Amino acid sequence: MLLASRASTLKTPARHALLTWRPHTPEPIFYARSVSTAVHFYQNRQLEAYASKPATRMTLRQLVFFGRSMNEERLIKSANYVRTELPIRIAHRLRDMQALPYVVVTQEGVAKVYELYWTAFDKFRRYPQITTMEENDVFCEFVSNLLAEHKSVIPNLSLGLSLSSPYLLSDRLDAFMRRMLVSRISRRVLAEHHIALTKSVKSGNHSTEENVGIICTRLQLKDCIERCARYLRRRPTDVDEDSLSGPLNRAPWSEVEVDGHVDTKFAYIQEHLEYIIFELLKNSMRATRVKHSTADVLPPIRATVVASDNNVCIRLSDQGGGLVSSEIKSPSDLFSFSHVRNATRLADSRLNALRTVSTSSRGMRATVSEQVGNWQADTKDNIPADSVDPHPRIGIGLPMSNIYATYFGGSLELVSLDGYGTDVYVRLPKLGTNLEGIEL
Ligand code: COI
Repeated sequence: MLLASRASTLKTPARHALLTWRPHTPEPIFYARSVSTAVHFYQNRQLEAYASKPATRMTLRQLVFFGRSMNEERLIKSANYVRTELPIRIAHRLRDMQALPYVVVTQEGVAKVYELYWTAFDKFRRYPQITTMEENDVFCEFVSNLLAEHKSVIPNLSLGLSLSSPYLLSDRLDAFMRRMLVSRISRRVLAEHHIALTKSVKSGNHSTEENVGIICTRLQLKDCIERCARYLRRRPTDVDEDSLSGPLNRAPWSEVEVDGHVDTKFAYIQEHLEYIIFELLKNSMRATRVKHSTADVLPPIRATVVASDNNVCIRLSDQGGGLVSSEIKSPSDLFSFSHVRNATRLADSRLNALRTVSTSSRGMRATVSEQVGNWQADTKDNIPADSVDPHPRIGIGLPMSNIYATYFGGSLELVSLDGYGTDVYVRLPKLGTNLEGIEL
């Protein structure tokens, strides 16, 4: 009775929600669960049907092999794979959200994401089979629009989960966030790969040796590191928004010196690698500048690249003083979205920054390449006047880099040499044979 009356007062996004009691779980009393009306009962049966199917996971190598010998028939097959696979992956995450404590689902940000996912799920599941190239064009436009609409997902989720962190055990919060973010990366990879394959087939310029869809088959690590470093050194406000005033503006930013196996090339998604390198260098540059605020010349950041039979590794070493502080007890706490492990999650400045980004029409740029790539296409040293920070400082660079690194089976580790600097180790599998790291 109590539950029924509470359910009838639910607002967005819990139009699909009915309060229910789950005595076996440790968190607060009321939980959101489907469904309050006959319509939603039907819709929820659809959700159950999709959520009960396993995702068909891919390896990087499969994406390359399938995309390499593209023709119209294979492209239509790819379109229908995206059409049927994405609603399954979204359905898993909607079920995950429905299992959250009610107080979490109704938080600003989480509510918005739930609505976006429900709408996308419903549109995908109703989308008719694609049989011609013309229908594929319309499908690509449909998917592109969804990709744009979903740009605000990460800041919204981060905001909602930060606000919810007093109500969720930190392990549960981080596991949930990880599933959400990995799954989002996976959906965007499939969608963007298909759109890129379509463009190359239509241009008659089928996948080249270098690029297959969104995968660069000979991605040069040194170039990528230097590109991100040049960009950051010329855009100090992207490293720190206060950098144009005050003592931080005294010295130029650190140089980045690349050594080791500098000719290493491997097949990878350029945007993912750039995101990781960009965020790590941004942190190192800022920390070095803060630590040596009165120095005229800053110590360099050393990037060492090493290729073995199975992996490529990058070690970034800075002299920015290390990571452990009164707020951060262990470097791995920087990967956490919970205020218990990372008190800065509830800092007003961070919440306000998240609010601004999550409601801006631009949302977050999906990739560094969108920015760094445009700039690169222009000239090597000319950053367009309208360029914007690909990833504003909202406190998710490290957790997201960790998720990008682990997505195809790699790793990211931080070692703090307290008082001196930080070493970051990124390992990425070279053979592309690991399945995507999504969980059901
Ligand atoms: C996302 O960006 O969160 C997505 O799920 C994108 C997908 C709907 C194409």
